[in-house]
Amino acid sequence: MKERIFDIGTVRLKNHLSLAPMEDVTDPSFRAICKEFGADLLYTEFVNAEGLIRKDERTAKKMAIAPEERPVGVQIYGERIEAMAEAARMAEEREPEFIDINAGCWVKKIARRGAGAGLLRDLPYMQRMVEEVVRAVQLPVTVKTRIGWDRSEINIVEAAKRVEEAGARAIVVHCRARSMGHSGEPLYEWIDPVKEAVSIPVVVNGGLFEPEDVRRVFEETSADGAMIARGAIGRPWVFREIKQLLAEGRVSLDADETLRIDTCLDHLKRAVEVKGERRAILEHRKYYAGYLKGLRDSSLVRRELVVMNDLAEIEDALRDYQRRLVNLAIAGYVVDHRR
Ligand SMILES: Cc1cc2nc3c(=O)[nH]c(=O)nc-3n(C[C@H](O)[C@H](O)[C@H](O)COP(=O)(O)O)c2cc1C
Repeated sequence: MKERIFDIGTVRLKNHLSLAPMEDVTDPSFRAICKEFGADLLYTEFVNAEGLIRKDERTAKKMAIAPEERPVGVQIYGERIEAMAEAARMAEEREPEFIDINAGCWVKKIARRGAGAGLLRDLPYMQRMVEEVVRAVQLPVTVKTRIGWDRSEINIVEAAKRVEEAGARAIVVHCRARSMGHSGEPLYEWIDPVKEAVSIPVVVNGGLFEPEDVRRVFEETSADGAMIARGAIGRPWVFREIKQLLAEGRVSLDADETLRIDTCLDHLKRAVEVKGERRAILEHRKYYAGYLKGLRDSSLVRRELVVMNDLAEIEDALRDYQRRLVNLAIAGYVVDHRR
């Protein structure tokens, strides 16, 4: 496989895989787990520039970075250029390796105001925003965006050129237009024209769920790295699987019931340390479906787990379920319907 170098500031990665920024998902507990399974580069959830300036505590907390998760970028979003520059300065104080500008969020109340993917409708404004953020900080600045506002208005090549001219050091391209939201076939064919137009690293994102998807996109495009988002939710080991496939031509990791339930619990316990038991347990409810997907009787177990409010009780229920599955597997029953 061709060597894909991703260089920004002090960060130099080869054939790298990054964990995408995801609001309410990529908190420090999930990032740490993905890192342990092989994610090379991490991003915080997006951080609202205006919230930071208002000194909103919940917003500022999203920038918390643990030493073991480096290299990591803080992603900021907003529509006002001065606010974005000020937010970047505040983010820099947390000493991430880079600052990322969100130019891809499709959520109506953000994009219609001109932030996130809304920046794709006014490329000169987007360029000025990147310039001002670059000017405001010492750290490298990157941009995560989409191929265009609408499928009939694809302007990623022009956007990438402007972003590079403004001083950005890398660009992540979610290969869907804003109008496609998170569904529809990503248009990976836009990666090569972007690569030809700029000399900064270009990272591909969108629709990379299985290891095979990453292998294909690396074979078919000249992207300098791949970014995984939903493919890692409820299955952070996907990073190890991808790396195995790329290096050895096959996936040897067995994501069996033991690994899946161990990881689910590990994720919850780390979240409890960061957020406290009550909040972590409530937020973890959305992950059971992913971690337990396809396992025998998982819907029954999930129904019990989502009404539990005590860590010890949840741990007992999961361990008990894990033991049952292991015993059934030993007795020759199918316990994982995904196989
Ligand atoms: C729950 C969720 C939250 C997201 N939050 C962010 C965000 O904070 N910043 C961002 O740039 N993109 C965000 N995204 C978009 C992803 O980073 C990614 O671009 C998109 O999901 C496409 O990748 P995928 O097809 O691999 O999921 C979010 C996506 C999801 C599903």
